[in-house]
Amino acid sequence: MGMAGRMAMARMMARCRGLLVVMEFMAHVRVSASSITGRDGEPAVRRIPRDAPGQLRVFPAEQRPPPSSAAVALPVIDLSAPRDEVRRAVLEAGKELGFFQVVNHGVPEQAVRDMEACCEEFFRLPAEDKAAFYSEDTDKPNRLFTSTTNGTGGERCWRDCLRLSCGFPVAADAKNAWPDNPDGLREAMERFIAPTRALGMELLRLLCEGVGLRPDYFEGDLSAGDVVVNVNHYPPCPDPVRTLGLPPHCDRNLITLLLQGSVAGLQVSYRGEWIRVQPVPGAFVVNFGHQLEIATNGLLKSVEHRAAANAAVPRTSVATFIMPTDDCLVAPAAELAAGGGGARYRAVTFREFMRVYKTVGARRESVEKAFKI
Ligand code: OGA
Ligand code: NI
Repeated sequence: MGMAGRMAMARMMARCRGLLVVMEFMAHVRVSASSITGRDGEPAVRRIPRDAPGQLRVFPAEQRPPPSSAAVALPVIDLSAPRDEVRRAVLEAGKELGFFQVVNHGVPEQAVRDMEACCEEFFRLPAEDKAAFYSEDTDKPNRLFTSTTNGTGGERCWRDCLRLSCGFPVAADAKNAWPDNPDGLREAMERFIAPTRALGMELLRLLCEGVGLRPDYFEGDLSAGDVVVNVNHYPPCPDPVRTLGLPPHCDRNLITLLLQGSVAGLQVSYRGEWIRVQPVPGAFVVNFGHQLEIATNGLLKSVEHRAAANAAVPRTSVATFIMPTDDCLVAPAAELAAGGGGARYRAVTFREFMRVYKTVGARRESVEKAFKI
């Protein structure tokens, strides 16, 4: 972002802060006395769809989302622009915000539409049809689960999630491990994953060129692990003021490509505020995971984000994560460490990273404490 861009952003953020204050005040006026007490102790699968919530995670007041805040548009980068321009835009947005959106990204519209439609249809299935897929085993690559309980003592946020994984290219046995109901989900996933992964790899090449790494730096083990897709489903929530769909977290992977759908909900941490990401039809939201932060020695950061729940409409988002292999040793690139006053992160295998991430939790501060030198 140039000087002018930065100033515009600062002005926008100042306006946003002003609005936030007003909205917070309204929130106080509007908070109802309703409490969420679900039937706890049910088999978890009965909570899908979540017409009767279990123990809902209630956040302390200062951590709750304002019911409404200024929508700040992330930079929208047109990938059909001249490559030099795109490289500059991706790097500037990446360094400033760690988040941006891309359009004209080369993933066919039909592939996106089919994937979104099948995912929405999956969550509309009756609970019995989804039950076979339900699992709380975090090591299972393909499963349905209801939010996460990391470090909360059992309370859950307002999200159900269908996780689908595969190697690349997609092997037949990987595909057969995905749900066969609704019809066509497996094919939609297969047709979606190839161009979406290719988009991620292209963005990584652009970022490499931008930061001064060889363009294929991320081509090997750093990106050869599973491609993981989280289909997040946020049913209408009876008390969106006191909880969240997804708590604040950073992504664990290399790079994330998110289809937000048409319902807003994603919020990104920016200079101490949460900014709402305005959905742009057909766009992917792109952000960096911890592995990219480590590999670039902190030049590109894994930024905290969260998803708000809403009372009115269901929301389904599709997040695609590119991962290193388990054995991959992730370390700051020598050329970036040398220019940046030495390595700022310790080298770690992705397997070991995941082990620690699962215990310390996904907040940026905890992950930094564990891996930053
Ligand atoms: C994720 C994520 C945000 C959203 O799946 O990691 O951050 O808007 N999702 O659903
Ligand atoms: Ni995320």
